[in-house]
Amino acid sequence: MITGKTIVAGIVGRPVAHSLSPLIHNAWLAAAGIDGVYVPFAPDAHGFDRLAKGFRGGAVRGVNVTVPFKEDALAAADRASEAARLAGAANVLLFEPAGRTVADNTDGLGLLRAFAIQAPQWDVRTGPVTVLGAGGAARGAAAALILAGAPKVFIVNRTIAKAEAVAAALGPKATALPLSHAVGALSVSTAVINATSAGLSDGESLDVALERTQDTAVVMDMVYKPLETPFLRHARDLGRPTVDGLEMLIRQAEPAFEAFFGAPPPPDVDVRALALGALGQ
Ligand code: ATR
Repeated sequence: MITGKTIVAGIVGRPVAHSLSPLIHNAWLAAAGIDGVYVPFAPDAHGFDRLAKGFRGGAVRGVNVTVPFKEDALAAADRASEAARLAGAANVLLFEPAGRTVADNTDGLGLLRAFAIQAPQWDVRTGPVTVLGAGGAARGAAAALILAGAPKVFIVNRTIAKAEAVAAALGPKATALPLSHAVGALSVSTAVINATSAGLSDGESLDVALERTQDTAVVMDMVYKPLETPFLRHARDLGRPTVDGLEMLIRQAEPAFEAFFGAPPPPDVDVRALALGALGQ
């Protein structure tokens, strides 16, 4: 039931209709009995700032932000967490009643929690990690890995100039490599994370020599549609432990929910099953 006191939060993206976040947050709200609602917002390509200005002062309590507005979200904030600053992007904006807009990035925490759940034997501090891609998702993942104590992160990208720019923003623990010379990085990494958009559209799969990774190397794909991407299937065929993008999506939502609604998500809701149902898996 919507009342005069309902807390409003949501997700801003373009497109946003495919997002699983409303399903996840509203299932948690219902189970927790919280007077809140989580709705989608899809501004036009240049409309993010206008929307965020309208929410200032708490007309909306907070929003998740997804493609293509995560950099805009950071720029719209008066204050940002270290995670958001190092990632160069925000996936959470909070609109404080006093007027400030505060940015955070929980994608990195989601990534690390997903590893903790699906590959609990893995320890970020024990060796290098390879991140494939140099867009916003890759930078966010690499930033989180460095903040969590990874000794080295290889930023491997088809376009080396973009990898170099990301590595420069992240500091000495990040090293840029072209995709064509990834083998050296793959063979020493404790984990390989696909943060490219390859695999999102049909027929475009990522050609990476996963057979050159160590037997224990954990392979993760941020893409979750399909849940088992060709990249993850390749890893499983090789016997590598894997982590999927859906777990990351759910786990980044947990701290966001708590920030919006003031309580952690109730533990007794199987949001993964709900999301899998919506994905038709
Ligand atoms: P996001 O903000 O979601 O990270 P993005 O900024 O569009 O998305 O970045 C997409 C990433 O996927 C880039 O690193 C891109 O490589 P280029 O910088 O060389 O374009 C990578 N990518 C997309 N399709 C790819 C493919 N078929 N093979 C290899 N890399 C691909």
